[in-house]
Amino acid sequence: MSSKTMKAIRLHEHGGPEVLRYEEVPVPGLKPGEVLVRAHAVGINPPDWYLRDGMQNLPPETRPKFDFPVIPGTDVSGVVEAVAPDVDGFAVGDEVFGLLRFPSFDGSTYAEYVAAPAAHLARKPAGIDHVRAAGAAMSGLTAWQFLIELGHDHPSPFQEARHRPVPLAPGATVLVNGAAGGVGHFALQLAKWQGAHVIAVGAGAQEPFLRELGADEFIDYTTVRAEEVARDVDLVIDTVGGPTSSRFFQSIKRGGSLFPVFFGEYDADEAARLQITVSGTQVRSNGAQLAELGALLDDGTVRVAIGGTFPLAQARQAHERAARGNIQGKLVLTVAGS
Ligand SMILES: NC(=O)c1ccc[n+]([C@@H]2O[C@H](COP(=O)([O-])OP(=O)(O)OC[C@H]3O[C@@H](n4cnc5c(N)ncnc54)[C@H](OP(=O)(O)O)[C@@H]3O)[C@@H](O)[C@H]2O)c1
Repeated sequence: MSSKTMKAIRLHEHGGPEVLRYEEVPVPGLKPGEVLVRAHAVGINPPDWYLRDGMQNLPPETRPKFDFPVIPGTDVSGVVEAVAPDVDGFAVGDEVFGLLRFPSFDGSTYAEYVAAPAAHLARKPAGIDHVRAAGAAMSGLTAWQFLIELGHDHPSPFQEARHRPVPLAPGATVLVNGAAGGVGHFALQLAKWQGAHVIAVGAGAQEPFLRELGADEFIDYTTVRAEEVARDVDLVIDTVGGPTSSRFFQSIKRGGSLFPVFFGEYDADEAARLQITVSGTQVRSNGAQLAELGALLDDGTVRVAIGGTFPLAQARQAHERAARGNIQGKLVLTVAGS
């Protein structure tokens, strides 16, 4: 820890958006393997409110305990301010972005300065700004690890078997549930990049946005039950999940797959009878994969949609906005003075 200070958002207790406090705190010191990043933009993601509310979506006995105060956040884009002596590959002044220390929930990115493991960073694509780069980290890597390459051997807390992305034959049909959201809009574009025919499921007003991103078909979930109209789908990537997740079995052809991004409840026997593979994973930080995704962001193959920005000091308002939904892509915090 240095004697210099910075502004950051901290939690001193779990609760609603009001527990996000904008405070003066020490600039973090560097451990071996780390880089100090002057943050320009901070992507926000559902795990930020899971941490904030104390993991209310988990059974009480399985909720992890956190040492307060905690700086939330996992995603950052900014400029390298300092590097630990053992770090190769990054230098002061480099523009970088990353998903930090996930899934251990100590990315601490809601701050002006962030100590980042170098292995979790990639060069920011020159063709996109810091706001878009920050918006791409967790959501983009999640879509990448589900659809393109897992990139790690760590077990998921939600399943024993190692997740395997399905090679998509050209013309394979992929249904993306929650397609206008953070993960969904990347999944849609990566599936298109793989040559798939994509059915996007979102709220009605999102149709022009999703068509522009490449959706071949659109289903408005507010008026139609997607599982009742979609048929012979090779892969459903479901970013919504929940207790009725098996409903998509009727849309998937034999030999097809269902990838729950948010954990759902599935009948394993029913899946086996229908010859449907249900498989998911938990995203993990990976700078090398971000660099691969970064090349697609740089040349415009994959776009980062920004549904709104808020100054860091207004993280509370950003969380309140997120809770209302109906957002195209990502919400991002911008950092003053950057
Ligand atoms: N496995 C992992 O490692 C991993 C990684 C990242 C995220 N996640 C999880 O994946 C989920 C999605 O994350 P995200 O960042 O993409 O969230 P997000 O940006 O909030 O996107 C969720 C999307 O789902 C849509 N939606 C909500 N209810 C729906 C319904 N009944 N039918 C169809 N679409 C519906 C929302 O649309 P509206 O705005 O219209 O409600 C929104 O576009 C979260 O639960 C998150 O925790 C898991």
